Amino acid sequence: MNDIDLKNLRNQAEQEIKKAKNLNELNKVFKEYLGKKGQVSLIFKKLKNAAPKQRISVRKELNSLKSFLQLEFKKKQEQLEISNSVEQKTWFDVTAPGHKEQMGHLHPLTIVKREIMIIFQEMGFEVAQGPEVENDWYNFDALNMPKHHPARDMWDTFWLKPRKSDLLLRTHTSPVQIRYMEKHKPPLKIIAPGKVFRHEATDASHAFQLYQLEGLMIDRDISVSNFKAIIYEFLKRFFKKNVSIRLRPSYFPFTEPSFEIDMGCTACEGKGCSVCSQTGWLEMAGAGMVNPNVLKNVGLDSKEWQGFAFGFGIDRLTMMRYKIPEIRLFHSGDLRFLKQF
Ligand code: PHE
Repeated sequence: MNDIDLKNLRNQAEQEIKKAKNLNELNKVFKEYLGKKGQVSLIFKKLKNAAPKQRISVRKELNSLKSFLQLEFKKKQEQLEISNSVEQKTWFDVTAPGHKEQMGHLHPLTIVKREIMIIFQEMGFEVAQGPEVENDWYNFDALNMPKHHPARDMWDTFWLKPRKSDLLLRTHTSPVQIRYMEKHKPPLKIIAPGKVFRHEATDASHAFQLYQLEGLMIDRDISVSNFKAIIYEFLKRFFKKNVSIRLRPSYFPFTEPSFEIDMGCTACEGKGCSVCSQTGWLEMAGAGMVNPNVLKNVGLDSKEWQGFAFGFGIDRLTMMRYKIPEIRLFHSGDLRFLKQF
């Protein structure tokens, strides 16, 4: 045991402290030299057996080595702590742009459907519902279309199997009229928004699944002028501007007389443009005065009660509201489309 050993030890320790890349490594080096079983402590232990004279001088050397190393460790530790926190600062770059949370939101059809419901509710209409899987009676017979009635061809139908079960996907929301009148006595004012299905080829303005808004008002002394007033008020509130409407003669088995409701084109103010095929008018809904046969089918006396019914396409209204050129976008699941609403 002599000075040279200690000098070596000191150099070695110094080197290793320098080489430590992080606090963990530094800790290991510390243990190796200054830990309880570290090299310096071992020499202290060995000293006990040395001659007294040597013991005193070596202990002195050892103590100064120990405090020297402690200082070196401390310096290195501070250095590593500083570089550590610098690393952390670049990690949490407060100037970096934040990540936007992806938020869900309502589908444009839902937004418009809810808006329409509010407008009609403000005018005293209640909201009614019916099943999407209907039977032949409610979808056709009760609406004055007995079996083999040619008007059935107006709606290409998805029949459920087996065919003789008479179950189908409703082709319009008009069966809700029947279901509601079976359970509620007039006077009544309802709307029935809902999904309907058509077994037909799709293109930019035709889908096999769409949303309709049925309307029905039954009371004493209801005339076409009541009907016109309600429709006019609805369209004015929905498009938030003055609109012009006209009724064109049409045909539906469940209304007599029947109309097609046209609205002055909102894109060109009636002058004629590509949206309205140069006619200045847009077809908005089918409608009419409820056919006495329909009232009879739900046990109402048509001498006492009259009313009107109408059916809007909610997809159509939504496309006009947002200038959407293609109906199939609604169910495409394309986020680039959906995120715009
Ligand atoms: N149900 C008809 C259709 O789908 C629309 C309509 C509803 C017509 C109510 C008249 C009265 O085409």
